[in-house]
Amino acid sequence: MNKLDILTFPDPRLRKKAKPIERFDENLKNMAKKMLHTMYADKGIGLAATQVNYHERLIVIDVSEGRDEPIYIVNPSYEILDSSPESSKEGCLSIPTFQQEVLRAKKIELSYQDLDGEPQKLMAEGLFGYCIQHEIDHLNGKLIVDYASSLKRSRIKAKLLKTKNGKA
Ligand code: NI
Repeated sequence: MNKLDILTFPDPRLRKKAKPIERFDENLKNMAKKMLHTMYADKGIGLAATQVNYHERLIVIDVSEGRDEPIYIVNPSYEILDSSPESSKEGCLSIPTFQQEVLRAKKIELSYQDLDGEPQKLMAEGLFGYCIQHEIDHLNGKLIVDYASSLKRSRIKAKLLKTKNGKA
């Protein structure tokens, strides 16, 4: 299976807001599988469709140690069950070499649909919960650089633009 190309900050397509998914067909399942393959290949724990230039509300996540418990999440929304802010140090496949401390809600209840369109709910906290919040940010065009100081953001932007132009 071919890996999908991942958009890199500051690509403006990472800022597009993803649309709700209405068709639960083979195309959706194929896309989800390709995204999972790409996420595993790049050693990520989560990937949002926005990152592969597909602007619909689809996320894949696997925070298991064995890398064998993938979850496909369509049309997600969440309620905060415990809002005490927890500091999470995060990276992102769209922002290579960058890490950022982000304050995330401690515990959430996620509502979503599976690949067949069936409604699902789950509770998440710790790494799994932070990852869900990170990926939903992507669907809304938000990135972890947005939680950084403007100086730090300009630095990573300059660095990644240089890399892209083959100067580093
Ligand atoms: Ni990310």
